[in-house]
Amino acid sequence: MQPATLLLAAAALFASSHVPIAAADDITYAITQPATGDVVSTSEPSVIKWTSTSTAKKVSFFLEAAGSSKNLFTIATNLFDSGSIAWQPPSNITPATDYVIVLQPEGSTSQFLSAQFTITDSTVSNNSTFSPTAGQKIHAGVTIVVLWPVDSSVTNVSVFLMQGASTASLTSIDTVATDITNHGNVAYVIPDATASGDDYVFAIQDLANSTNTVYTPQFTIVGSNSSTTTGTATATTTGTATGSAASSTGTGASTTSSSSASASGTSKSAAAGRETAQGMLVGVLAAALACIVVR
Ligand SMILES: *[C@@H]1O[C@H](CO)[C@@H](O)[C@H](O)[C@H]1NC(C)=O
Ligand SMILES: *[C@@H]1O[C@H](CO)[C@@H](O)[C@H](O)[C@H]1NC(C)=O
Ligand SMILES: *[C@@H]1O[C@H](CO)[C@@H](O)[C@H](O)[C@H]1NC(C)=O
Ligand SMILES: *[C@@H]1O[C@H](CO)[C@@H](O)[C@H](O)[C@H]1NC(C)=O
Ligand SMILES: *[C@@H]1O[C@H](CO)[C@@H](O)[C@H](O)[C@H]1NC(C)=O
Repeated sequence: MQPATLLLAAAALFASSHVPIAAADDITYAITQPATGDVVSTSEPSVIKWTSTSTAKKVSFFLEAAGSSKNLFTIATNLFDSGSIAWQPPSNITPATDYVIVLQPEGSTSQFLSAQFTITDSTVSNNSTFSPTAGQKIHAGVTIVVLWPVDSSVTNVSVFLMQGASTASLTSIDTVATDITNHGNVAYVIPDATASGDDYVFAIQDLANSTNTVYTPQFTIVGSNSSTTTGTATATTTGTATGSAASSTGTGASTTSSSSASASGTSKSAAAGRETAQGMLVGVLAAALACIVVR
């Protein structure tokens, strides 16, 4: 059989209710929003969207930090499978870039995870320390939350990515945000094209008095040209390992099943044994293909 015929046959097998591996109980779900890198604010409602192979079961939603398997917030329980709900993260959730939504079908132990997304805090998050921290390594293309201590006399700020040996000799690299309320945090995606360097800072500038500028400690950006793309975990960012797992899941969804197969392998290990909906679909398809080959 040609590969295309195999795939068609596999699809037919998958559709048939007489095949044990595709029993009626095996409903799979895919959370389509939030997507990789989305930023969700504690100050405004946003939407969770998902698709399912059947709407027969009720579903529940939880918020977790990626890889933690710890429920931080119960979003909703036993909803009809409507495909979308509105939600708003509570203000006690710490701003970070590695949150996932967990979908749990009624009466099932299977869980389906969203891509990693960022939560920012619109209320004043007066962290007494800066983030990034001194020497922290961050890869270009990664979403981070910049944190700074809030001076209550400063109402609005602009934030810039800068580079230089000392604060007296800085070059502006990119504008993160201009004229935002001084909440002590802002989410930012380090541009893909940013050059590698160990002398980056974020400058937080008082809009009413540009002399009044505070700087994060110097941190390192690992540019996308760099060959070292694995291994380094960072404190407040998602770190390389989880970041690349999330992005490969995203890529897999929009490409062929053969590339999803390798992507799902990555996401499985990152999610400590739990599968994404996509991973399960690929798994079922692969199992169906194996059946045909044996015959
Ligand atoms: C400050 O930020 C760090 C890193 O995100 C976090 O672990 C810590 O809890 C924060 N502290 C406060 C007081 O918000
Ligand atoms: C925020 O924290 C800093 C350092 O801990 C402190 O000096 C400042 O007064 C605090 N600002 C507010 C608005 O609480
Ligand atoms: C401060 O920022 C807020 C939110 O971005 C904006 O609505 C407001 O106009 C700004 N205030 C000043 C004085 O620029
Ligand atoms: C990355 O590669 C591009 C194209 O080869 C080059 O123009 C750019 O300068 C490189 N950047 C770094 C940081 O090496
Ligand atoms: C502007 O900020 C600088 C540095 O914090 C301070 O010394 C100066 O007094 C401020 N100027 C005004 C007009 O507030």
